[in-house]
Amino acid sequence: MNQFGWRSVIVKPLKINGSKNMQIGDGVTVEYKTWLAARPLTGMGTCHLVIEDGCTIGHFNHIYATNSVVLHKNVLTADKVYISDNLHGYENIEIPIKKQPIVQNGVVEIGEGTWLGENVCVLGAKIGKQCVIGANSVVTKDIPDYSIAVGVPAKVIKQYDFKTKKWEKRVYEKFNQEIPGGGKKYVLLYAA
Ligand SMILES: CC(C)(COP(=O)(O)OP(=O)(O)OC[C@H]1O[C@@H](n2cnc3c(N)ncnc32)[C@H](O)[C@@H]1OP(=O)(O)O)[C@@H](O)C(=O)NCCC(=O)NCCS
Repeated sequence: MNQFGWRSVIVKPLKINGSKNMQIGDGVTVEYKTWLAARPLTGMGTCHLVIEDGCTIGHFNHIYATNSVVLHKNVLTADKVYISDNLHGYENIEIPIKKQPIVQNGVVEIGEGTWLGENVCVLGAKIGKQCVIGANSVVTKDIPDYSIAVGVPAKVIKQYDFKTKKWEKRVYEKFNQEIPGGGKKYVLLYAA
């Protein structure tokens, strides 16, 4: 490990690949049979998996970085969560997909204090801080801070309102436009 913090533990991992590219902060728990990988299989100049202080990673998680996956402080993942910034290429129909190159997807960042429910998949997207991602959701696009998102693909259904100091229902429609500097643009249709 590039860094392995104080009072951190990885309980009987399934596999650890590319440990020299990993940084594990203090007080991190990685539960039984999780697979952690940080290997530059897509030819990127840098490759790292960072799990910051106080994170708890559930049982049977699968976290694979080929460029950048960062879990900020105190992230909680339930069991059977999949997080990756890459995918199997499928462009060539003459070659079995398992033999095609691994393709780079967007970098992954999970914000401080966020909770990913059971079976969540995060596929090349960023999730803000203090978010909840509902069980069985598949996150393919960025989720803003203080959001609750559910479904396949995951959509924001509630957001914390700093005026009412409550989580309020939200209906967001995503624009297919990239924001300069990264991310996607969301527009609030109505607050329920
Ligand atoms: C996301 C979650 C926290 C939402 O809880 P909540 O704020 O109480 O939300 P509500 O129950 O009010 O649900 C709001 C809407 O989202 C829907 N919804 C909630 N969770 C959903 C999910 N995981 N997938 C799809 N839809 C979901 C509800 O059906 C409801 O829809 P409606 O407005 O059309 O009736 C919860 O449903 C969840 O998925 N928890 C994860 C549990 C888990 O994985 N635990 C592992 C232990 S670490």
